[in-house]
Amino acid sequence: MPVLRGDDPAAIMQAAKHLARGQLVAFPTETVYGLGARADSDTAVSGIFRCKGRPPDHPLIVHVTDAAAAVAFAEELPPVAVRLTRNFWPGPLTVVVRRRSGVGAAAAGKLPTVALRCPDHPVAQALLHAARDRGVLGVAAPSANRFGRVSPTRASHVVDEFGVELMVLDGGPCREGIESTIVDCTGEFPVLLRPGTLARNALEQVLGEPLQARHAASPRVPGSMASHYAPDARVGLVQTDLITTAVEAAALEFGPRRVGVYSSSPLSPAAGVLYQPMSGNPSQVAHELFAVLRWFDVQGVRQIWVEAPPETTDWDGVRDRLQRASTP
Ligand code: TXA
Ligand code: MG
Repeated sequence: MPVLRGDDPAAIMQAAKHLARGQLVAFPTETVYGLGARADSDTAVSGIFRCKGRPPDHPLIVHVTDAAAAVAFAEELPPVAVRLTRNFWPGPLTVVVRRRSGVGAAAAGKLPTVALRCPDHPVAQALLHAARDRGVLGVAAPSANRFGRVSPTRASHVVDEFGVELMVLDGGPCREGIESTIVDCTGEFPVLLRPGTLARNALEQVLGEPLQARHAASPRVPGSMASHYAPDARVGLVQTDLITTAVEAAALEFGPRRVGVYSSSPLSPAAGVLYQPMSGNPSQVAHELFAVLRWFDVQGVRQIWVEAPPETTDWDGVRDRLQRASTP
């Protein structure tokens, strides 16, 4: 199966037919590439779990054309979800709401709730619309990577994960680069389940109330585990003043060409390790982060040292992914 051009209407049609028949299609979104199957078919969705090697109780995100289409999967959108979707859809925001019974059970990992998102990417939108014209109510799509690995932000990353058997629509590099912000809208207060690229205060302004943090004691939804998004190489976070010491030790242990460094403070070239400059702009770092981790892997790096990003809220999404990548 070749990689198809996402800007080719014939390719969109072919992919939509594929989805309608219950088969898998990988497609670009503004966040990361998704591995899609029709969410209104439990059989089709089981293909995602098999392909990814993901346990079937891990809920997936269901992608829809717009808020009107969301009610195929949701009993109703609570006021909090209405506010969020009006302001941030299409866009990198997922809302968790009560699920309409009898639909999307496999996609939701059998939970009584469902995660919904309307992506802001022309190829994703074209695919969702073409599929809807063929009776597909929504497309369940986790990131198109094998379970626990780094999410793909380019079509070539998806091919690296699954080989050429899978149908992939190419939409170029993803604009945002890390997965959507997830807000649980089912409780008394909105809860931030996963930070992304949307600014926390922009969300709170629309909500008119603070976003609650996920309660440490609340049951963890499968799929939200600490260790995730990991490349093959070991990833470590290190404070700026300790980078040189950490890198020297790793270079001694593995040899300099097996050490990768992603930091804003350039190293002396004498270190001989693989260096990627980190921008001071969190959006830029989100955009390139997964590609940088994958690039180190391709180079055969064994240890990646990443400079710990600032503790400010605009770095929440990036910090979350780095913490998970560095948790063994
Ligand atoms: O940006 C994204 O959201 C990408 C693109 C493809 O849209 N998708 C994505 O899907 O990141 P995935 O499957 O890798 O992440 C889904 C996560 C789950 O791991 C879980 O934490 C949360 O969404 N989730 C899904 N359904 C949920 C539910 N009913 N309740 C709570 N959390 C849920
Ligand atoms: Mg994922």
